[in-house]
Amino acid sequence: MSATTLSVRGVLDTLPPDKSISHRAALIAALARGTSHIENFSAGFDNQTTLHALRQVGVEFEQTIHPDGRRSVVIRSNGLWSLKPPSAPIECNNSGSTMRMLSGILAAQPFSSTLLGDASLMRRPMRRIAEPLSKMGAKIELSAADTAPIHIHGSKTLQPISYASPIASAQVKSAIILAALHADGISEVIEPARSRNHTELMLGLETETLSDGRYKVKIKGQMEPLAQDYVIPADPSAACFIIAFALLASRSELVLKNVCLNPTRVAYLDLLRAAGAALTIENLHYSGGEPIGDIVLSNSSLSSPLNISGEPLVACIIDEIPMLAVLSALATERFSLSDAKELRTKESDRIAALVLNLRALGFACEEYADGFRVLGREKIPTTKVRIDTFHDHRIAMSFHIASYFSGADLALSEQSSVSVSFPNFFQTLQMLIHS
Ligand code: S3P
Repeated sequence: MSATTLSVRGVLDTLPPDKSISHRAALIAALARGTSHIENFSAGFDNQTTLHALRQVGVEFEQTIHPDGRRSVVIRSNGLWSLKPPSAPIECNNSGSTMRMLSGILAAQPFSSTLLGDASLMRRPMRRIAEPLSKMGAKIELSAADTAPIHIHGSKTLQPISYASPIASAQVKSAIILAALHADGISEVIEPARSRNHTELMLGLETETLSDGRYKVKIKGQMEPLAQDYVIPADPSAACFIIAFALLASRSELVLKNVCLNPTRVAYLDLLRAAGAALTIENLHYSGGEPIGDIVLSNSSLSSPLNISGEPLVACIIDEIPMLAVLSALATERFSLSDAKELRTKESDRIAALVLNLRALGFACEEYADGFRVLGREKIPTTKVRIDTFHDHRIAMSFHIASYFSGADLALSEQSSVSVSFPNFFQTLQMLIHS
């Protein structure tokens, strides 16, 4: 089917459960005395990695896969300090969230542990968590390049900390929060702009936006979290791929059910609306402090380019930038991004990956340290274009969607990385395509 006749229609209630909330529900349940039930836990490889990592430190859980494919996880814990020393290095695979947030917990345990990951994760910066956790009293060793393996010699008597993080990073903030739950006293984390706030919401922490725009979280130490029941909403970052697919199609009518609409996650909806997308929200309700609702997209397309810069916006759309860049390039031949050097430290250097692959598709791009610009399309390649995904799920999904609309013949270097966050990605697109 050619893109000119491609119509995207459907009501989708099978988007992946939110990856960030799934990680946190499992990690917090492991520290909460009693039994926590997590409904709709993500089948994504990253979230399954967190469960396996918890098993390596003695956390007991059962995961049930229901006939409709949804998963429930029941986690039993004896509370703070109930983890057991691992008998082998803890495998974090591709998951930066697992490595960084679990490090916060392990920093407070009276034993030593080592965390490893795949080639991508072993290249990612870890000084950002090692520094605050060391200040709290844990001994943390990194490689000479400040990357994993991370060797943690935990301390049962962590000091509280008042820490101003140089970056708006929810993984750094959450690692400190999870460590600070074990410390003897009140800790504070200040970030330059508010990053996703699921950890604070789940733990009911006090937060404040300071007059200069910075954001502060206060954590009372040695307050054991309560065992809870969680129902994980659909992942707005996964929704972004489907919305972009629909906006590029010639006709579209879409309802995405029960999506997490936390403002620290869905700023991209406002950007898309301002550029012409007809997006509304229905059935808005709240659960566990998170706004949840259905995203409704009526037939529309992107009529003006996306220009992304500045905090707090960049922190709130950091995972959506690859898809937004590809969408804007395909729909308008223009795109600009600045203030996003963090994007170079994700599962791949996403600025370099986007520029390389957009150029391969004939787009003229200028690359900067903290972003890039798409200046127009010079040609539509007539020979097969190989897209290098760098084994990065979000690069793979963005360019797979481009394969329907780019006018070129694309082949991704691999497709399996999509299982990190969106295992049924290809089936989901197929379900929505109508002629
Ligand atoms: C995440 C935070 C972000 C994001 C990642 C998930 C989280 O990373 O890119 O996919 O769940 O806390 P940083 O904290 O490194 O910005």
